[in-house]
Amino acid sequence: MSVVDESLDQAARDTTARLRFDGLSMVFPDGTHALEDISFSVAPGEFTTVVGPSGCGKSTLLRIASGLERGYTGGCDVDRDSIGYVFQDATLLPWRTVQRNVELNAELHHVDKDERQRRAAKAIELVNLTGHEDKYPKQLSGGMKMRCSLARSLVLNPGVFLFDEPFGALDEITREFLNNELLRLFALEKFAALFITHSIAEAVFLSTRVLVMSARPGRIIGDYEVPFGAERPHDLRFEPAFAELCGRINDDLKGAHA
Ligand SMILES: Nc1ncnc2c1ncn2[C@@H]1O[C@H](COP(=O)(O)OP(=O)(O)OP(=O)(O)O)[C@@H](O)[C@H]1O
Ligand SMILES: [Mg+2]
Repeated sequence: MSVVDESLDQAARDTTARLRFDGLSMVFPDGTHALEDISFSVAPGEFTTVVGPSGCGKSTLLRIASGLERGYTGGCDVDRDSIGYVFQDATLLPWRTVQRNVELNAELHHVDKDERQRRAAKAIELVNLTGHEDKYPKQLSGGMKMRCSLARSLVLNPGVFLFDEPFGALDEITREFLNNELLRLFALEKFAALFITHSIAEAVFLSTRVLVMSARPGRIIGDYEVPFGAERPHDLRFEPAFAELCGRINDDLKGAHA
């Protein structure tokens, strides 16, 4: 592809982007320089994952996208009415059942009760929690809590989904199972996904694109289109092409720590 074609392709992609960072930098009031000149966009049906050393500014980037963090310079363009988030601690309300936790966001958006219950039932079905509606968070496993947290965001049918290490605290088998579930949801809902993980294999398995960030201040130092299609069988993880891409990202990360 020629340079011109590439820039046209980029421009076409940008017009449909649901989330766009443009020369974004962030210095906290105490002088901590967290992010430097971040530019990329995520369109519907794109699953972009950011990997980078601890403390390089990944969560800060997601917090800026979600509107929780201000004081940045440069651009951050996102439809904030259409964002779903899943963070590492599932942050379910312990006094609410699964059903009532999943209804929460719809309640906050003043969706009426019948509609709320209908959407919650659909979201619970999408994440395979049907039959567990009346349980409280303390009765759920870690993986079930994450699925409940996912369902809670799905009721608002978000155009942009932000994930900050959602599966980091789970064992590998549960994590791989939830990776498949998330890919299934992504294929159905076609949101724009921005995902953060410390696992290179998870990044490559889930994503259409992987970005590597340097140590603080975080800059983009690697950018990989993932060449695998939408169908991602479990054994993809053992393919040479998969290992090769993981290896290249790993090399970038080693450089990032230097
Ligand atoms: N409110 C704040 N005020 C000052 N510094 C902050 C604030 N929040 C975060 N930082 C600093 O900004 C840097 C980036 O933090 P951030 O949480 O974004 O890193 P991260 O890449 O998500 O790390 P991890 O992989 O460990 O989750 C860190 O040095 C952190 O100490
Ligand atoms: Mg973080």
